[in-house]
Amino acid sequence: MEKCYAHVKGTVDFYPPQSNTFRNLVDKAATLFKLFGYEEIILPILEEEKVFSKSIGETTDIIEKQIFRIKGKDIILRPEATAQVVRFYLEHSLHKKRDFHKFFYAGPMFRGERPQKGRLRQFHHIGGEVLGSDSPYADVEVIQLARLLLKQSGVDDFLLKINSLGCEQDKKKLIATLKKKLASYKDEFCDLCKRRMDKNPLRVFDCKQKKCQNLITTFQIEKEYLCAPCREHFAKVRSLLDGLGIYYTVDSKLVRGLDYYTNTVFELQSPHLGAQNACGGGGRYNNLVKTLGGPAVPATGFALGVERILLLIGEQKEEKVSLSVYVVYTSGAMFAEAFSIVQRLRAHGITSSMHFNQKTLKAQLRFAEKTNAPFTVIVGDEEFKEKQVILRDMRASRQEKVSITKLIERLQA
Ligand code: HAM
Repeated sequence: MEKCYAHVKGTVDFYPPQSNTFRNLVDKAATLFKLFGYEEIILPILEEEKVFSKSIGETTDIIEKQIFRIKGKDIILRPEATAQVVRFYLEHSLHKKRDFHKFFYAGPMFRGERPQKGRLRQFHHIGGEVLGSDSPYADVEVIQLARLLLKQSGVDDFLLKINSLGCEQDKKKLIATLKKKLASYKDEFCDLCKRRMDKNPLRVFDCKQKKCQNLITTFQIEKEYLCAPCREHFAKVRSLLDGLGIYYTVDSKLVRGLDYYTNTVFELQSPHLGAQNACGGGGRYNNLVKTLGGPAVPATGFALGVERILLLIGEQKEEKVSLSVYVVYTSGAMFAEAFSIVQRLRAHGITSSMHFNQKTLKAQLRFAEKTNAPFTVIVGDEEFKEKQVILRDMRASRQEKVSITKLIERLQA
């Protein structure tokens, strides 16, 4: 016997019923995005490394440790899609066509993290990006949409945390203040944090080591670094959220693990996910379009983690098998007739299937039962002579002879 291969560590095989839940979630998300005026984009999984290293930041965990690189090339498997959306936006000069765009996407992302519950190497994002507006209303729409997507997926118990990092100048002030605070505890942090303190102090917040996390929780970060317009912007975001009855907490230590963020950032966290508690997150990235070679275009967006949502909704979302009719045949002579009935049912939009290996009728009926299809059509030698088949209602355990010409009509009824 040949060796059986297993899935790659940190990846997941989705099959029914979970693949149905997955598909449903993405389809329902697409409908909601469209309701909010977002257009779907489907972008490649392969991107140039520079697109991400310039945007997410060279000293982030993602770029430093988690990139899947195509050997010998500057091409990587995308770790997220925001930078990619901006690359796409600029490559097609979309800013010249319209000054306001809203996009959504769903697809796999790749990060070489140490796998654990809710933390994978290949996972899926459902995300939205709004390019061309600095309005606090855009921030709030994005937050509202992220919440609604979670809720319609069946996740009700989550906490919304928000913060503002301010504009580029404010962020510099925040980083300088942080640098000073960190310097007085320098020896107590891990080696990676010590290196990051100089290069990119905000990244100290991403450290997964307990001792570093404990130290950071003791830090007080006041909002003094925000300039007047950014303070006003954040106040407006909060008052709009209040107006919509959206509950949130302001967390001054929420800085997000990607360098491109400015102003409002947010995260949706679940108390049921353990250490990987974020089921979604996002925020403004007003400088990213410029960083990637374009004009100054303010933008905001978010992404939800599909696998974490699936963990949260778990078994409660068992989807029924979508098959309506299973067609079986009493003998090999009836196989071709059964096959032609299946074709006819499908042509009328009735989901149907049959077994191609000529098994006994009993074995086929057992199989039909396992598919959960509510109806079975039995194509029998005797009935067929009279141009009839047997239609069995599996739930009611009732059956009747139906003329083949009336079968579709009967099933549709
Ligand atoms: P992110 O916070 O890195 O943001 O990812 C968004 C969500 O993806 C997380 O909240 C989490 O649910 C899920 N996620 C992240 N990493 C993993 C993993 N290794 N395994 C399973 N799930 C994971 C972004 O990527 C930004 N691009 C979001 C954004 C869009 N900001 C503005 N626009």
